[in-house]
Formats: sequence, C-alpha cells, structure tokens
Amino acid sequence: MVAIRSASPDDAPAIARVYVETWRTAYRGIVPASYLAGMSEAAWEGHWRRVLDDPEGREILRCVLVAETEVGVVGFATGCREWSGDGAYEGELDDVYVLQAHQRHGLGRLLVGGVAGRLGHDGLRSLLVWVADRSPACAFYTALGGTRLDRGWRRCIGGATVDVVAYGWRSLSGLRSRETPSFRPHVRPDAAVPLRMEPVRDL
Ligand SMILES: CC(C)(COP(=O)(O)OP(=O)(O)OC[C@H]1O[C@@H](n2cnc3c(N)ncnc32)[C@H](O)[C@@H]1OP(=O)(O)O)[C@@H](O)C(=O)NCCC(=O)NCCS
Repeated sequence: MVAIRSASPDDAPAIARVYVETWRTAYRGIVPASYLAGMSEAAWEGHWRRVLDDPEGREILRCVLVAETEVGVVGFATGCREWSGDGAYEGELDDVYVLQAHQRHGLGRLLVGGVAGRLGHDGLRSLLVWVADRSPACAFYTALGGTRLDRGWRRCIGGATVDVVAYGWRSLSGLRSRETPSFRPHVRPDAAVPLRMEPVRDL
C-alpha cells in the first residue's frame, strides 16, 4: 500500500533522511565522496522543516509530496513555478527522490504524477526538470515522456563540475496522476494567491 500525500512539518526528518541517503547512493561517482560523506541529515531536517513550517517557504515550493508505505516515508518530490520565468515552461519539478531499496516500483512515476497534478490544478501547463547529465534519472524522465532540451549549465558541487541538462513536458496531461488515493490538496489550496518567483536552491 502506497500513499502519495502532501508533506507536513512532521515529515521533515523523513524527507531529510531520504534526501541524504538517496544523494549518497545516486550521486556516487558524480559528486565527490567527501561532499556526500559530509551531508548532514540534521542540517537538511532543519532546511525541510523551515520550508514546511514557513508560509513563505510553502509559497515558494508550492508543493511537497511524500510517498509513504507501511515502513514510512520512502520518497518525496517537490514542484513549483519555473523559477527563471523563461516562458516556455511554467512549472518546475525541483526534487524527486526515492530510497534505493524502493526504486523501480513505480513510486517515482506516482510522485511526479502527483506534482504534475498539483501544478496543473494551480493552472500551470508544462513542466521542466534539471538533472545531472550522467544520472540514470535521465532514463526515468525519458520513460515518463520528457523531451531532452537543448539547454544546460554546469554546477559546482563539492569542488567538482557536474553537467546539468533539462527535460521538459509541454503538456502535463500525460503526466498527471489520475488516481492518487490519499492525495490531498497542498497546504496552500488557494490558487488565486500569486506565486513567488524566488527558487529554493539546495546547494
Ligand atoms: C529517478 C527516481 C526518482 C525514479 O524513481 P523510481 O521509483 O525508481 O521510478 P519508477 O519505478 O517510477 O520508474 C518508472 C520508469 O522509469 C524508467 N526508469 C526508472 N529508473 C530507471 C533507471 N535507473 N534506469 C533506466 N530506466 C529507469 C523505467 O522505464 C521505469 O519503468 P519500469 O521500471 O517499469 O521499467 C529514483 O530512481 C531516484 O530517486 N533516483 C535517485 C535520485 C535522482 O536522481 N533523482 C532525480 C533528481 S533530478
């Protein structure tokens, strides 16, 4: 049994654990080992608690969903308005992380569908995601119908340069979850509230 639901501040420790553990498994060989070893769950818990506690943080991040099974939270995803305002893409998938032991069971697809559903509910029509070029997540986004875009940048993480590429969906219709049984509207259901454009960047 899997529930995709909006996160609450009480989920901050679990989200931090998923975030740090998944970085350590997924980005081994891409991000320096010293950076991965130095990631602090406590610090990330503080970050996520501030995001979820703080009305401003909620407004910026717009949507934070967790995937919960009988063993607890095993994945999460976040989405917001595309932060640079480039016009071609209106929404941005900021994070999607599933613990390694729970990958390839459809949770990533459900989480992205939940984010797309939430952003679509708020009137956004398209989605962009940035991903490390060498990451297997590129295959995941392709499987979800994303198009690799001709744009990219270089990000410095822990002293290493990581090439980052974009995938885009011009329409959310194929992505949106039709059924996410315990999905509830995000903490900010008032779609009339204007979105803040500042991104929450994690590094
Ligand atoms: C990327 C991620 C979120 C995908 O979540 P997931 O629950 O494993 O993905 P799903 O089971 O929903 O996969 C859906 C489809 O995507 C494709 N896919 C997923 N992971 C893949 C991989 N490692 N290699 C190739 N294809 C993959 C498959 O076609 C899969 O369908 P199938 O299992 O029926 O073949 C997860 O692997 C993860 O957390 N990775 C590490 C963190 C990360 O890179 N996040 C993205 C940051 S931009």
